Amino acid sequence: MLYEIARPLLFAFDPETAHNLTLQGLHYAGMLLPPGLPAPATPVEVMGVRFPNRIGLAAGLDKNGEAIDGLARLGFGFLEIGTVTPRAQPGNPRPRMFRLPEAQAIINRMGFNNHGVDALLAHVRAAKYRGILGINIGKNFDTPIERAADDYLVCLDKAYALASYVTVNISSPNTANLRQLQGESELDDLLGRLKAAQTRLADTHGRYVPLTLKIAPDLDEAQVVNIADALRRHRIDGVIATNTTIARNKVQGLAHAGEQGGLSGAPVFEASTAVVRRLAAALGGELPIIAAGGVLEGAQARAKLEAGAALVQLYSGLIYRGPDLVGECVRATAA
Ligand code: FNR
Repeated sequence: MLYEIARPLLFAFDPETAHNLTLQGLHYAGMLLPPGLPAPATPVEVMGVRFPNRIGLAAGLDKNGEAIDGLARLGFGFLEIGTVTPRAQPGNPRPRMFRLPEAQAIINRMGFNNHGVDALLAHVRAAKYRGILGINIGKNFDTPIERAADDYLVCLDKAYALASYVTVNISSPNTANLRQLQGESELDDLLGRLKAAQTRLADTHGRYVPLTLKIAPDLDEAQVVNIADALRRHRIDGVIATNTTIARNKVQGLAHAGEQGGLSGAPVFEASTAVVRRLAAALGGELPIIAAGGVLEGAQARAKLEAGAALVQLYSGLIYRGPDLVGECVRATAA
């Protein structure tokens, strides 16, 4: 309701300024406001973790974990922060985020702008939030792709103790060659090393923290099947489908459609849901799917479950619909 007033004000700013203002607002809301009433909850157990409801915040909105307590007040069952890299990095030059309001879409080429994993963990320690927290990890832009695993391992090591689960992001289109890691031999090597580290860390910390892999929507059937095989072989705990798309067929002719980067929001719904469906068929229920991509109303969150997902994440829908979308999706996916 309030968002009907706030949205035109926010949309009067360029998208990145609006984003920063919102995060700051949430940061102060988290400090000042008492916790809101929890949304009607139907807890579910996924990856051995108890989620109070099925709706989460997708990665990339709070890259540094600066607004955790404010975001927690919106009724999410879980929050995913990051993508974070071992070292701080500025990301790509601005402008790097664009609204396509006619399509209820966003194009971004942020390029993992973040303050580094240590800063993120300091924010997590300072937060009062005790709910489910995913930490999404990536590689620095200047780490050669052949050494990408080293970056993921640094982040996993550091984030392990504070995360409810850790997401390995190999699907951003905005870090050169990153998506090559979805290839058969690259993925095999990466997942093998991450699984070995997880096993060692579980032993050291006396706590098993699930690992999820986040994949792109721009994969054909054979690629999805290969990835599903690798996930099963390496006993990865979950898969997030999907990140943003490089396809532009759904937004042709619209202002900003030609901008480089990843497209999210309504135009990615179909492709993302198709990946969920293919994964569900290939995985046969062996590991859970977390859906993200184009959810702008409750019925679409429900459709993700029907396609085979256990949990659903939101990002672009929050920009267009505001925080009411969270409760709407929680209600549509309860029971
Ligand atoms: C993203 N997304 C993203 N994903 C990720 O794993 N790490 C990241 O740092 C980011 N950054 C990011 C920035 C911006 C501005 C957007 C719009 C998106 C992708 C996001 O988490 C999600 O997977 C996709 O946006 C698809 O979901 P929606 O937005 O269609 O609901």
